[in-house]
Amino acid sequence: MIPTIAWRDDRVVMIDQRKLPFKESYVVCTTLAQVVDAIRKMVIRGAPAIGVAAAMGLALGARRIRIQNRAAFERNFQRLCDQMASARPTASNLFWAIQTMQQVLRDHPQASGEELKELLRLKADELLAEDQAINQAIGQHGQAVVPNGATVLTHCNAGALATAGYGTALGVVRAAWETGKKIQVLADETRPFLQGSRLTAWELQQENIPVILITDSMAGYLMSQAKVQLVVVGADRIAANGDVANKIGTYTLAVLAKENKVPFYVAAPLSTVDLSVTTGKDIPIEERDPQEVTHSLGRPIAPPGVTAWNPAFDVTPNRLVHGIVTEKGIARKPYKRSLKTLKQKRA
Ligand code: MRU
Repeated sequence: MIPTIAWRDDRVVMIDQRKLPFKESYVVCTTLAQVVDAIRKMVIRGAPAIGVAAAMGLALGARRIRIQNRAAFERNFQRLCDQMASARPTASNLFWAIQTMQQVLRDHPQASGEELKELLRLKADELLAEDQAINQAIGQHGQAVVPNGATVLTHCNAGALATAGYGTALGVVRAAWETGKKIQVLADETRPFLQGSRLTAWELQQENIPVILITDSMAGYLMSQAKVQLVVVGADRIAANGDVANKIGTYTLAVLAKENKVPFYVAAPLSTVDLSVTTGKDIPIEERDPQEVTHSLGRPIAPPGVTAWNPAFDVTPNRLVHGIVTEKGIARKPYKRSLKTLKQKRA
């Protein structure tokens, strides 16, 4: 598997996902501002990977704080957290990671600035390692719903590249594959950023897991022809009632899955579940540069000057979701109760 993000000495190194699959290059960050910029520009993307990058970015930024006293350190660190929170609005994991890093300060009220720098770095390391373990657990729970011989449709990239490793939706696919199930994946290309064709297809190809690429508009036809036995997608934020924000086009797939009686599952870590958000209506949806729609891979594909719209995510209502696969088990309806129970469950 491709390492998405790693420390190299005191620098944060990420594979540049904007360039894949054509070029394997890396972006090296030495400051928090560079990590924020990398998240904003999608060098690194996918909710769990954004969360890990945020934690590492904060650990990196904290190193540069010139310490006068504890209070000054706290004020400076809060500024870094505010900067990080502005990177992207939808993925819950970004805010969860910031809160987790802030908790380090609260847990060590007597620690000096120098000690806090070390503790923040240790916490970021922990989140990086933990994310891979979480995805493997998601895979173990999720593989049970994958029928042998199934064609599994997925959208966007919820794979190793979208996490610290193994993936969420693709973690379910990987685990099913590793148990010996004969499956294949239908990968939606996922316009406009093409995470499906550039990243999911590439990632699966690297591991010889059978993958067939389709354009987004082909999903309904293929479902109607009984060519799809299961849909599994990731999530950027899940509200307390089980409404799911994920890559634009996910809602369309969920409606099509219902119409064609295909089970529709979401795979995500519990850090993506935001119990402070009651329903999907309260999830902020990122609007990205319309140029991502008028252009593809840097080239214009529309008449110059045409107006374009680019909401990056949509919300799938909980009634369309068969189950939410987490590291602590599969949440079922009613989600308000099952998600809360899983969040409170001890590891
Ligand atoms: O805009 P992106 O590429 O960050 O969107 C990613 C998705 O929508 C993924 O499906 C989601 O973050 C889950 S990744 C495990």
